[in-house]
Amino acid sequence: MAHGDVVASVRGVTKTYGEGAAEVRALRGIDLDLHAGGIVVVLGPSGSGRTTLLNSRGGIEAASSGTVTLGGKDLSGRTAEELATVRRDNVAFIFQYYNLIQTLTAQENVRIIAELTGRSGGDGFDEQVAEALSGVGIADRADAFPAQMSGGQQQRVAIARALVTGPRLLLCDEPTGALDLATGRQVLSLLQREAQGSERCVVIVTHNSGIAVMADRVIRVHDGVIAGVTAQDARPADEVVW
Ligand SMILES: Nc1ncnc2c1ncn2[C@@H]1O[C@H](COP(=O)(O)OP(=O)(O)OP(=O)(O)O)[C@@H](O)[C@H]1O
Ligand SMILES: [Mg+2]
Repeated sequence: MAHGDVVASVRGVTKTYGEGAAEVRALRGIDLDLHAGGIVVVLGPSGSGRTTLLNSRGGIEAASSGTVTLGGKDLSGRTAEELATVRRDNVAFIFQYYNLIQTLTAQENVRIIAELTGRSGGDGFDEQVAEALSGVGIADRADAFPAQMSGGQQQRVAIARALVTGPRLLLCDEPTGALDLATGRQVLSLLQREAQGSERCVVIVTHNSGIAVMADRVIRVHDGVIAGVTAQDARPADEVVW
């Protein structure tokens, strides 16, 4: 995989929840390619289908129709177990409220995913965990529990945890939704650094249009369809304003 290669692609994807009067057509035909080295911001109002799109693209939830290809593998018609394997090998997620395990330290939170997915073998693993924590600037908080850390620090632990398995696709759902502007910019700068010039694509879903300046592609979602795609020169994340 090289810079610019397609990491994931979505073709004609629809997603419908419920039936009859309760039917919600959350996605109504999405086509999208995600490229290595890219940083993509997906904008849209609440309820527009952004989280649904992230979940179908990440193989968390099967689409109702259409195809999602991840790391060269078509996700359609796969069992839950097969989906889990493709996901494990290619994708990591970051969420608004960090989703750290409260009873584990920062370091243990970073270790756990790699351990659960069988990536913790080998002598270099301790160093890899330490590097992931120092890479996000919180080596000194390795033994702190989530409740002892600020929101920005917790989100940085979540980024270290996401990156330690080397995902090709990093999907972030409102990653700065609980942070102030200064802390949010630090987190966004980290995400930008992890995308640019890498073999990874970082996707940030947000309702915050100010974040769009740091993307090289901005995708506007409205009512389950892509209403517009803009390619642009990404600005440094510290120029984000909201
Ligand atoms: N599990 C579900 N069951 C039924 N309907 C759902 C489900 N998940 C989402 N929906 C519906 O699908 C539509 C899109 O939801 P989605 O969560 O993707 O929106 P969003 O753009 O992420 O909005 P938000 O700003 O609220 O996060 C909404 O109308 C929502 O109510
Ligand atoms: Mg959402």
